[in-house]
Parts: sequence; C-alpha cells; structure tokens
Amino acid sequence: MPLVHPFPDRFLWGAATSAHQVEGGNRANDWWRFEQRPGVIADGARSGDACAHWTRYDDDYALAQADGHNAFRLSIEWSRIEPERDHIDEAALAHYEAMLLALRARKLEPVVTLHHFTNPWWIAEAGGWENHDTIARFEKFVRLCARRFGGLVDWWCTVNEPEVLAFRAYSQGIWPPGRQDRSAALVVIAHLLEGHARAYRALHEEDRADADGDGRAVMAGMAKHHVILEPMRGWSPLDRALQHFEDAVFNRAVLRAPVTGHVALSIPGARTVDRRVMGLRDSLDYVGLNYYTRWKVAAGRSDPHVAAAGAPVNDLGWEVYPAGLEQAVLAMREFAKPVVVLENGVADKNDRLRPRALVQSLVHLKKAIDAGVPVRGYLHWSLLDNFEWSDGWRGRFGLYSVDFGDPKLPRTRTKSADLFARIARQNGIDRKELTDAGA
Ligand code: FCB
Repeated sequence: MPLVHPFPDRFLWGAATSAHQVEGGNRANDWWRFEQRPGVIADGARSGDACAHWTRYDDDYALAQADGHNAFRLSIEWSRIEPERDHIDEAALAHYEAMLLALRARKLEPVVTLHHFTNPWWIAEAGGWENHDTIARFEKFVRLCARRFGGLVDWWCTVNEPEVLAFRAYSQGIWPPGRQDRSAALVVIAHLLEGHARAYRALHEEDRADADGDGRAVMAGMAKHHVILEPMRGWSPLDRALQHFEDAVFNRAVLRAPVTGHVALSIPGARTVDRRVMGLRDSLDYVGLNYYTRWKVAAGRSDPHVAAAGAPVNDLGWEVYPAGLEQAVLAMREFAKPVVVLENGVADKNDRLRPRALVQSLVHLKKAIDAGVPVRGYLHWSLLDNFEWSDGWRGRFGLYSVDFGDPKLPRTRTKSADLFARIARQNGIDRKELTDAGA
C-alpha cells in the first residue's frame, strides 16, 4: 500500500542543505568569525569541518539518489566565490560546477540558494545588509552565478528567510553581528528584499538555458519561514492582539512585498519601513516555504512563544505539529503562486518522533494540494545532521546522522530515511520516468 499517494507528476522530492552548515571549512564568512567568540554557540561548538560535505558531496548525493530523491537543495557560499572584494576564486567556481554536474549525473534537480544567512567577511565588515551597497554587491555575485551555472540550474532561491536572519542577528542579537537594534532589523529585511528583487531580475536576464527541458530556464523565488501562531489563552485580548500582530508582520508582510512591490514593516520600538522598491513587484515565480512548528503566543512574558502544554517537542523544544504544514501551505494561497516546500523537518537525534511526523506532514501536504494549492515539491530539512547555527550540534535534523568526531566516516541511515525513500519512490522519480518515457 502506498504510504502517501499520489502526488502531482514531476513533483520535486528531496532534501535541503546549506553551505555553511554542511560543507566545512568556510573560513571567509561572518559566521566563522562569530563562532570563535566564547559563549555564542551551544556547547562551545564551531562549524569546523561540519559534515565534510565539501569533499564528500558525491557520496551524499549517492545516498539521496539511492533513496529515490529527484531533487536536492544546496546553497552557494558567496565567501568561497568572492573571498575578497572583486577577487573571484576560479577554483571555487569550478568546484560548485562539479557539484552541480554530479547532481545532474545522479538525476537530482538542483535547487540553488544564493544567500543562506552567511556573508563574506568583507561584506560584514562594511556593514553587512545594513549597508545599502551590499545589494549591488550581491547582485553582481548573483549575475556571476547565473552566467556560470545557468546551464545546470533552473530552480533558484534568491535569499533564505530574510526575517529570521534579521530578527536573530539584529533584534535578539544571537547571530552575527550580534546586535540588538529593532530598527536595524527592519532595515536589513528591507535590504534583503531589495536584494531578492535585483537577484530575481538578474537571474531572468542572465540564465536563458532550460536545463531540465520543461520549457522554462528560470524558476526563481525566495524562502520564507512560516510559523503557526495561536493565542495561548483564547479569551485573552492581549494574547490575541499579540498573535494577530506577529502573524501580520512575521508571516504575511515579508511575502507580500515581492508580490506588491511595497515593503511595509512595523514593530513596536522600531522605525517603520514603508516604501516601494523598484523591481520588487511580481518577483516570485514560486513561493519557497519553510515550515517547522507552532507557537502559542502569551503576552507579557520576556519570550512570548511557548510550545502547547503536553505537546510533543523536538530536541530544541519546538512543538512537532505536522498539521501546521497544511495550514502554512493554505496560507500561501494569498500569493497565488506555485509553492515549493523548501524546508520542513524535526530535530530528533534518536529518530523517535520524526518518522511519524514525516508521514503525517506529507499527509497534510497532500490535503493542501487536494484543496487546490499548486505545490511543486517537498524538500526535507535535512539530508544530514549539520551545524545548526547557534544551537551547534544540538539540532540533529538529518535523515542520515553524522559523526562529528570524524565527519569523513560513513553516514548512519535512520528509519526516517527509509520511510522518505518509500514515499519518494512511490510518488516521485518512477512516475517522472514514466512521464518522460511517454507512458
Ligand atoms: C531554518 C534555516 C535552516 C535550518 C533550519 C532548522 O530556519 O533556514 O538553515 O537552520 O531552520
């Protein structure tokens, strides 16, 4: 009996990663420097060799291929390509090209992110995304990638979760540059959105090659983190007001910008951003959705977000709430675009909650598809346990676990990897091959 069946033809099935979290040795970016500060990462961890994916990439792709995946999300590390201002590292370009060729050889459709949280150190030193000049520098990098890799890549993700980056780095101050300035956080979101707009236009101008033969050379979007927020006490006007407000800012406003062209962001204690950005309007070919959890919102606490009482939680204390994936996808109807789930997963070192959560999440995803949302793919976070930012090695999201004592050792398969393989095979590559064969 199929576990979850059937998904649309040509559905993308795979896993997602990001460069700094898996590659290892990314010394030229702001995260590497930040990690050297005492006390900023759980257990004093540092990304170091991470999963040694920079050299082991093809072994990892082989796992994905053997599991019936047909897609793989990776990011290109700007600081490898341009480690110093205007100095392009040809060897790094060639290395990413080899990775993309390896993906194609294994029939894994690359989904390529151009900015996944990290910045070259020279960008960070010049003010990072607070500095408006970063937008033009980013565009230049994107043009280079589009020209160089466009023949191998159709699916692009310009920036990953501008809102998460800005709040963690500039409001909570727990990511580099470690600031606590809410006005700066809003400026950073606005600049990242402008960066997205420029990247979107640049990709369409530079990449004219239809790599997968579906008639489109570019499908470009950005990744938006969506959290299910509910008032902790339904009767409390304060909880309800805070929930409503956070939902509007965090979940809705950021994605409205690339649809309407208007950036409108306001939070208490910060200077409002309210302006039109050239080229931003209608700059999504698809919505990239990252969904993980639900929070109950309780006003009047220093951290107003709590997991529902008695609910299952992952190793990081986030509620495991698969029904939220359906709710999140349904919420995307507002934007009237195809949706690709670019991240969804559970930090679960012992793979205890993940198998059930995975199947349930896909059942809920299917319900959202049946309700009419054009969902084009599901990329699980993540293929491998990896460096989970300020949570270090504590957030183990991998379908395969990694021995961080020696990341060159073979990966260990989880039951979740088996389950996901069954689902992907039943719904993914087999059906795609049938279609390709004209059956
Ligand atoms: C998302 C990030 C990703 C990973 C997961 C757990 O917010 O995009 O890099 O850290 O959370």
